[in-house]
Amino acid sequence: MAVLKLCFAGFGNVGRAFCGLLADKRAEPLGICGREILVTGVATRSKGTMIDAAGLDLAELLLMIDRFGRFDPAHVSYRGCGVTGMIEKCGADVFIELTTLSIKDAEPATGYIESAFRHGMHVITANKGPEARYFSRLSKKAAEAGKQYLFESAVMDGAPVFNMARECLHGDRVWKIRGILNGTSNFVLDQLEKNISLEDAILGAQKMGIAEADPSMDIDGWDGAAKICALANVIMGANVTPDMARVDSIRGVTALDIRDAGEKGLRIKFVCQAEERDGAMDISVTPQRLPAGDILARVNGSSAAVTMHARLAGEITIMQHDPGILQTAYGVYSDLITLLKRLG
Ligand code: HSE
Repeated sequence: MAVLKLCFAGFGNVGRAFCGLLADKRAEPLGICGREILVTGVATRSKGTMIDAAGLDLAELLLMIDRFGRFDPAHVSYRGCGVTGMIEKCGADVFIELTTLSIKDAEPATGYIESAFRHGMHVITANKGPEARYFSRLSKKAAEAGKQYLFESAVMDGAPVFNMARECLHGDRVWKIRGILNGTSNFVLDQLEKNISLEDAILGAQKMGIAEADPSMDIDGWDGAAKICALANVIMGANVTPDMARVDSIRGVTALDIRDAGEKGLRIKFVCQAEERDGAMDISVTPQRLPAGDILARVNGSSAAVTMHARLAGEITIMQHDPGILQTAYGVYSDLITLLKRLG
């Protein structure tokens, strides 16, 4: 039987949830393209690397992580190499990039993605950094290599934001995108409305597992800036990077500001916006007072929403309620199905 070989960089919560989906839905890829899915490599930063050209046993990988928190160095498939070595050796057709991102420089994700294209692999990534900084370069490399480059999970997890705009707005043009794109800061603002301190609110977001490793990336707007740049680059054909954005932190929002806004029927929200103005792209991430009638004022907790303003289709909003790890893993899985359909 024909097979499609996958390899992974990163095997944290998303990678493991994705493997669970692969196991549950084993028959689906077979039905779509008549190919069996095999995982031939998994490389991690701290849990070791496993390679087997004949296919790794996913249940066994998951069990090792559950029991020992890492892969067994005595296992016959254990290797001493990192991600780049795995890409060279594992013979996979598809590279699934799920590493922890540095929002500041989009590495190591971008370097790994380029290496995967050089080795003839399609790429699926859940990282926003590469699209926020290097979308045009990476798309060009994918096209030159004749490979697919998919990233639906990069913004709003499995909610079909990129796919909706790229597949369903044919003949139209998006000129503005506005959204609540960072769950941590939205949750923190909700908590401030409940008189909880900024520090405790951040701790709460960390306990929920939604904050970045460095939560100042969320609170100071850099995660939101990366996401709005990724949306602008992919959907609006912009060529922007997060350092071009006007970014204001929510650290300056005081209890008094929140109370004052509430008394006037307003809510303070951390709004990410990309707008085409006179041929230039204006990108901002700023706390704003929104009236109750604004759909973004109704985004609560760690939820997210994005409104696309299109010339012909008008305003379209996608709202995602309380996303969890399954939604991120689903975004990656939906990219795999897109890839299989494109391969035919
Ligand atoms: N720290 C991010 C957030 C995680 O709070 O939205 C999802 O990208």
